[in-house]
Amino acid sequence: MIIRGGLLITAAGPVPADLQVAGAVIAAVTPPGAADPSPGEEVFSAAGRWILPGGVDVHTHFGMPLRPGVASLGWRESSEAALLGGTTTIIDFANPEPGESLAQAVDRWLAMAGGACLCDFGLHCTVSDTAPERLAEIPALVARGIPTFKGFLAYKGRLMLTESQMGLLMTRVKAAGGMLLVHAEDGEMNAAAEQVLLATGRTTPNWHPTAHPPESEQQAVARCLALALEHACPLTVVHLSLEDSLAALEAARQRRQDGGPDLPLIGEVCLHHLLADDGLYRSGHESALAALCSPPLRPPRHGRGLVQGLAAGRIDILSTDHCEFPLAVKAAAAAGGFPRVPNGCGGVGERITLSYSELVRKGRLGPGRWIEAVAAKPAEIMGLSGRKGRLQPGYDADIVCFDPQAEGLWQPLGSSDRAGNLYKDLPVTGQVTDVWLRGRRVVDRGRLCGDQPGGEFLPRLLS
Ligand code: URP
Ligand code: ZN
Ligand code: ZN
Repeated sequence: MIIRGGLLITAAGPVPADLQVAGAVIAAVTPPGAADPSPGEEVFSAAGRWILPGGVDVHTHFGMPLRPGVASLGWRESSEAALLGGTTTIIDFANPEPGESLAQAVDRWLAMAGGACLCDFGLHCTVSDTAPERLAEIPALVARGIPTFKGFLAYKGRLMLTESQMGLLMTRVKAAGGMLLVHAEDGEMNAAAEQVLLATGRTTPNWHPTAHPPESEQQAVARCLALALEHACPLTVVHLSLEDSLAALEAARQRRQDGGPDLPLIGEVCLHHLLADDGLYRSGHESALAALCSPPLRPPRHGRGLVQGLAAGRIDILSTDHCEFPLAVKAAAAAGGFPRVPNGCGGVGERITLSYSELVRKGRLGPGRWIEAVAAKPAEIMGLSGRKGRLQPGYDADIVCFDPQAEGLWQPLGSSDRAGNLYKDLPVTGQVTDVWLRGRRVVDRGRLCGDQPGGEFLPRLLS
């Protein structure tokens, strides 16, 4: 197949070029019109459109079981939204239950994804138990292509690690050649704030951000960066929500430069922290519920600062933390007080189009940096170099055809929850029209194709 007449969006910016696809991979990138189709070869006209590498969202929670009877939107539905929104690769988090081994959790996640996930997928593994037998599993997971682990300083009594447990985990992840991803909020501080709120009858969802104060993230970010430098452990601080967190990351990078260990210190932001703000907590019960996630949405200046950080390359990755609980599920749980409400927002379907519409189109983010942040960098950092995230010969033919002029009002994709969508009816420019996964068409003029190749598990290797 030849995709002809489009503008390829590369790290250096838009370039007029044609793409030749052979089977599942990109065979060549040629000057416009240079390649002659052989007899029977399909030619797809992309005139007037942008050609992007398939999006890579390295932070999702598809079908995440939270407690009996409560799980986030499933693998099939979430991966449909991913493909329709131009994301062909995701990395999800396997979360062990108490007493469960890391390997068992990974097997459970592979069983949930298998046959249900329509896009390609990798796994990170959460570590919330630092018993010797759990930590001893880390090298085997790295060998299975799961080289990234998540530790929480948040969620006291559930997932939270103490500072010394986090340090121990870092030494083991580093020794195995892995990388640690940290949810940086101080679980003790959040729990104390929550207790005060509940004791004084402030139990409605609008109080959620008060139980997640900025100081909690500031302190936890500073602590995990200091620990990473101390233990020389490659680190990604996930879902940064404050300008101050970015400043702390920059300060740690400076310490690294001033004679510290040579290690990756990566910053990730998620769509909702860029495009939405804490005004939603003051806009009625349903808005507050829809926006209930951790870290919470912050005052608008933080989103602006994080966009500037992304545009300047000081933040590496734009993900979603896609963890969609229907509004009705959140509302039912809210009857028991805001701490019972499942945390999380959707976004995997929105990420490419809305970041284009709100950031690229409005001149806040260059197209080259945009495509690096939504595809190339996440793939490279998380161990998918050479296969995902770029339109280069030898890479998987994961290709998105994008209309940069289409105008409309945003509507949630596939079976994503409409009531709980943060962006419903937002005026939007840009539309994902056609998508290929490993050379097979999976979205045709904005609709899912009936015949889906199905997603593959991607073993990863950090470089
Ligand atoms: O609110 C969130 N972020 N839910 C998903 C779990 C996590 O902490 O990433
Ligand atoms: Zn998290
Ligand atoms: Zn998450």
